[in-house]
Amino acid sequence: MTNPPAEPSQSAFLKAARVEPVPHTPVWFMRQAGRSLPEYRALRQGVGMLESCMTPDLVVEITLQPVRRYGVDAAIFFSDIVLPLKAVGVDLDIKPGVGPVMASPVRTLADVAAIPDLTPEHVPFITESVRRLVGELGGTPLIGFAGAPFTVASYLVEGGPSKEHARTKAMMFGAPDVWAALMDKIAGIAAAYLAVQVSAGASAVQLFDSWAGACTPEDYRRYVMPYSARVLAAAAELGVPRIHFGVNTGSLLPLMAEAGADVVGVDWRTPLSSAIPLVGDRAVQGNLDPTLVFAPTDVMTARAAAIVEAGRAAHGHIFNLGHGVIPDTDPGQLEALTRFVQSIPVS
Ligand code: CP3
Repeated sequence: MTNPPAEPSQSAFLKAARVEPVPHTPVWFMRQAGRSLPEYRALRQGVGMLESCMTPDLVVEITLQPVRRYGVDAAIFFSDIVLPLKAVGVDLDIKPGVGPVMASPVRTLADVAAIPDLTPEHVPFITESVRRLVGELGGTPLIGFAGAPFTVASYLVEGGPSKEHARTKAMMFGAPDVWAALMDKIAGIAAAYLAVQVSAGASAVQLFDSWAGACTPEDYRRYVMPYSARVLAAAAELGVPRIHFGVNTGSLLPLMAEAGADVVGVDWRTPLSSAIPLVGDRAVQGNLDPTLVFAPTDVMTARAAAIVEAGRAAHGHIFNLGHGVIPDTDPGQLEALTRFVQSIPVS
């Protein structure tokens, strides 16, 4: 484990995001907090996911758990992409093993108009949690996050998780006025939610567009990118680096970079060596296949070494998995992976 920096601004994570020289390749894991940790499962006994996200004592402790255990270079705020919707009054739940489920899906302009805009008064527990965390984390930076408009729209329109996003795309293609109103509404909520987190002390933000890979580049540019770009432009005003991530986005990476990212997240299906030329002078984040932690440690670390080597061609590289930690991941493997990546000499 490397020593944490004196302050977040001097951390390897923020240096890489700002495309400055780094002491080592920084590493953190999407979904590093959560069911893979026994200490998380113990804390969550009998407490619902949304309730946990709204209880600062739990948010602080759960966010810190992987930082203590692994010595990762950044913490990610424990919350969920649908939390801001819940906070403004959308009737939804997060069902264990399923994900976010809406009481009534959004289908019409009236449904969209019924969703309030988000103000800091909706989320005092977020402000409190972030402030306390930043105090506890010292030099380790905290990443705030929001769901991108397309991915959040998918949950709202489908009413729950979906593989094909068929109803969502049917609205996108067939009811462009409803689509524009919905995407605009979510973009405003996401921008306001990120502003709350950064005002309270978050050092960077990640915009999760997990399901954007369902769109062709042409459709992404026309129906999705303007709204993500609006969120990312608002985040730029906050003065912190912005990471833009999606899954199955090999063909979208240039557009996701153009949308306004400082760091482009790459899933494991696209080799970093192919991704790097597509993102201009930005940094990249990724991208070990999350199933490699189930292989023997030496097999996993050999793949990690190859990714760090490929990352040297980028202007900046933050090591991560290509998507979230799988719940039955062995934490010992993530600890070994963190130490391994941090110990590789920079040149
Ligand atoms: O450690 C971290 O990365 C921070 C926490 C975090 C959660 N959700 C906690 C969570 C983050 C960044 C998210 C974002 C999120 N939520 C995304 C984008 C990231 C991605 O994985 O692509 C998406 C698509 C969601 C929607 C969502 N919420 C899903 C698909 C699920 C999983 C359903 C399940 O149970 O398998 C959730 C619930 C959720 N969010 C859990 C956690 C820890 C599991 C709830 C539990 O522990 O009971």
